[in-house]
Order: sequence, then structure tokens, then C-alpha cells
Amino acid sequence: MSREDRFLKACRREEVDMTPVWLMRQAGRYMQEYRDLREKYSFLEMCKIPEVALEVTMQPVNRIGIDAAILFSDILIPVEAMGIDLEFTEGRGPVINNPVRDERTYKTLRPIEPADVGFVTDAIKLLRHELKGKVPLIGFSGAPFTLASYMVEGGHSRNFLTIKGMMYQAPGLYDSLMNLIADVVVTYLKAQIDAGAQVVQIFDSWVGCLGPDDYEAFAMPYTKKITDALKGSGVPVIHFANGASTYLDKVAAAGGDVIGVDWRVDLDRAWDAIGPDKAIQGNLDPVALMAGQDEIDKRVRSIVKKAGGRNGHIFNLGHGVLPPTPVENVKYLVDLVHEVSLRR
Ligand code: CP3
Repeated sequence: MSREDRFLKACRREEVDMTPVWLMRQAGRYMQEYRDLREKYSFLEMCKIPEVALEVTMQPVNRIGIDAAILFSDILIPVEAMGIDLEFTEGRGPVINNPVRDERTYKTLRPIEPADVGFVTDAIKLLRHELKGKVPLIGFSGAPFTLASYMVEGGHSRNFLTIKGMMYQAPGLYDSLMNLIADVVVTYLKAQIDAGAQVVQIFDSWVGCLGPDDYEAFAMPYTKKITDALKGSGVPVIHFANGASTYLDKVAAAGGDVIGVDWRVDLDRAWDAIGPDKAIQGNLDPVALMAGQDEIDKRVRSIVKKAGGRNGHIFNLGHGVLPPTPVENVKYLVDLVHEVSLRR
């Protein structure tokens, strides 16, 4: 089986020769090649110059031997195109200078057109050419709740007080904002698919701050709007909701062919909650990559065993690779997943 088929087949729950593996945030600061390039460009420049985005996307493909490439970009790129004033500051991550907290600011936002993100579709076209005969390309977007949390809070948040305040106190404004974001995400993902993305992942990184009832009322309908709109696209959708392991049934009901799970739940239990009609992606604790190789070995074998040889497991971390991760442990992990999951 070619490396190009392994991941796509697993997304469709077809038989594979060994479990495919890729890692969220597989391109980034844990790699020397990335840090070298980052000396020359700001983070946003790296996202916006297609040739640079191409080079960074390829770094883990060439160095680590993963089974899928993920476009190098950021979930906040389409948000900027909506009229948000975005900065990436050293140490603080994304900062939004015009947070959306009232009707007046909401009215300054606009939907996007594919031409607004032409550098993204250009990077995808270059990548498909570069990746021919190698591995498939994943496109991605943030989910409405996660994007709204940045737009309303103005950056990363601990308690999500402002966005939850809007949910409870200004439900009409919240609903308008979430619908606008959902429409933007549909346009954005369709543009990526038209340009050549073979799979798309929806990242709901911060939705775990919601309890099950609030998830159902305030996040699920808007994510479902996106997965419904992509149903005819012919491209598998991975839906990753971080911190949502106590209500994976609802996450699965929001749609996606593959459900990404974090490390806070056993993979077999997660699959029971999701149901056998969906593939699953996960779920090693990213911090385990900081442990010794014996520990990594033990945990990888345990996850592969919980998948039990069923079709439709894609190995990944439960969240992104952290910057202090030793690159040799990442390489060790990928080879190990292949070795222990080889179907004989
Ligand atoms: O997975 C990949 O290799 C593709 C690249 C990718 C990045 N961001 C690169 C990045 C992807 C898929 C993302 C998505 C993203 N961005 C998410 C969802 C994934 C997740 O981890 O939950 C989120 C929440 C963001 C928002 C964001 N972007 C934050 C919070 C930060 C700061 C984090 C930090 O550790 O500084 C970023 C910046 C960012 N995005 C970097 C990279 C490589 C670091 C930028 C730098 O070099 O300074």
C-alpha cells in the first residue's frame, strides 16, 4: 500500500497495512529547520508567502516520515479577512485589537470571498504538486466557537468570561456572530477543497470550556451547519473538539467522518461513545513526548491495543506538538506506531 493511500483509507474506515500517523502542529518550533526560517520571517509572513508556507509544511514530511501533511497556516487567517485586526506577539500568542463585544463592532465584520485568502489556495496548489507520490494534504479551519472565543475575548483566555457572558446575556448577538463565522468557515474550507485539499480538519480547541448542555445549545448547531454544507464535497472531514471527552456523542452528532479525541479519555471508550460508523483520531498526551522512549513505547502500544485492529484509527496526539519536544522522540513515535500496528 502506498503512503498516499494509508491515511485516506483510514479516514473512510477501509483496511490499511498499518495505522497512519500525523501530528497536530507537526510543523513548528520544536524543529530547528522551522526556527531557522522563523528568524527571517514573522509568523504571519510565513503563513502568507505561499513558497514559505510550502517549505514549512514539507519540513515534517521530509524529516519525520508522517502519513499526511497539514497546510502551514493558522486558524485566525480567515478571521483577519473578516476585518479583525490581528497580531501575533512573542510569548502571548494571538492578540486581537478590535474585539467584538457589541453590535456596533459586529457590524464592521464582513463575510469572506475565496480571493481574500488567495495566498492559502496558492499554497495548497503548490503543495499538491510537491506532495505528488508522497502523502495527502490536510486543509483546516477553526470551529465557530473557538474562532468566536478569540474574536470576543481578544486573545487567549483562561475562563472565557467574555464569550460566555455574550452567550448568556446577548444571545441574539452571539447567534449572529456564530452564524457569520460558520458561513465564513464554509467558504474558506470549500476554497481549500477546490484548490486541492484532500481532507479537512475542523479544530475546536477551546470548546471544552462548555458543559454538555451549553455545547449542545451554543456550539454544536454552528459546527453542524459546516459539516452539513461539506457533505457533498467528497472530502473526509476530521472534527477535533479538545476537552470535550465527556460528551463525545454530541461532538459526533455535530458531524465529521473522523472524530479527533484528546488524551483525557481511553481510546476504546471514546470510540464506544462516538459509535462504530465513524473513524477516530488520537490520542497520545503531547507531554508524553517529553518522557523517555520506554514510556512512549508503553503508551503507544496501549493506544494501538485499544484500537484493537479496527479499521478507521488514525494515530495522533491529543493536542498539538509542544515547542520543547525533542525532535528525535517525534521520529521515534512515528516509526513505532507503524511497527506496532503492522497488520500481518
Ligand atoms: O499543524 C500544523 O503543523 C499546521 C500549522 C498550525 C499552526 N496553527 C501553526 C502555528 C495549525 C493547524 C494551527 C492552528 C491553530 N492556531 C489552533 C488550533 C490548533 C490547536 O493547537 O488547538 C489554534 C488554537 C491557533 C491559534 C494560535 N496560533 C495560538 C494559540 C498560537 C500561539 C501558540 C504558541 O505556542 O505560541 C499560534 C501561533 C502558531 N500557530 C505558531 C505555529 C507554528 C507559533 C508561531 C511562532 O513561530 O511564533
